[in-house]
Amino acid sequence: MQTDRKEALERIHDEVRRCTKCPLHRGRTHAVPGTGPIEADIMFIGEAPGFHEDQQGIPFVGAAGQFLSQLLEQVGIDRQRVFITNVIKCRPPGNRDPQNEEVLACKDYLDQQIALIQPKIIVTLGRHSMARAFPNEKISLVHGQARQVGDLVYFPMFHPAAALHRPTLRPTVEADFTRLRELLDGKIKPDVYEAPPEAEQLSLF
Ligand code: URA
Ligand code: SF4
Repeated sequence: MQTDRKEALERIHDEVRRCTKCPLHRGRTHAVPGTGPIEADIMFIGEAPGFHEDQQGIPFVGAAGQFLSQLLEQVGIDRQRVFITNVIKCRPPGNRDPQNEEVLACKDYLDQQIALIQPKIIVTLGRHSMARAFPNEKISLVHGQARQVGDLVYFPMFHPAAALHRPTLRPTVEADFTRLRELLDGKIKPDVYEAPPEAEQLSLF
């Protein structure tokens, strides 16, 4: 039932807000579990909360978030109808990259969010998010390609912050959002991807 799933999701989010599973909890103002409806068709997974996200407890509300909103609007996707979260839920000091131990400590929350929401498409933003599904790939080679792994469809993209820092990336990011729209409309189909054995994926950590 949808209300049960919604409550289960809220319970996970409460757990995230109280979580002390990795040292990042010490420096946070707010944990940032994620926002969006349980019935979302698309789930965006970024890297980690930044300054503004930590202040507000909401993902993608800073400069990268404003750019994300703009990209969604350009292709007619309502931000209110997508679910947005991050690989890790607490802000790393000085916005440094997430460490593998932190990603592993936080992984269960993201797994549970995916299982409850069951999105049609998972958009990974940036390489840390992509690495969850495709640890051995290069984002510059696979961005904008939809891949089906089991019953999940992944769509890797550059992180919007990367396009803010490197304006030459901007047309690429915009083209990927157009492809996302086409994927959503069924105009393009994902490639079916044979995931490497679990052991191989885990060896990364
Ligand atoms: N960058 C991210 O990866 N996530 C956010 O929530 C904000 C900026
Ligand atoms: Fe817990 Fe994740 Fe925050 Fe670490 S980053 S304290 S695992 S919620």
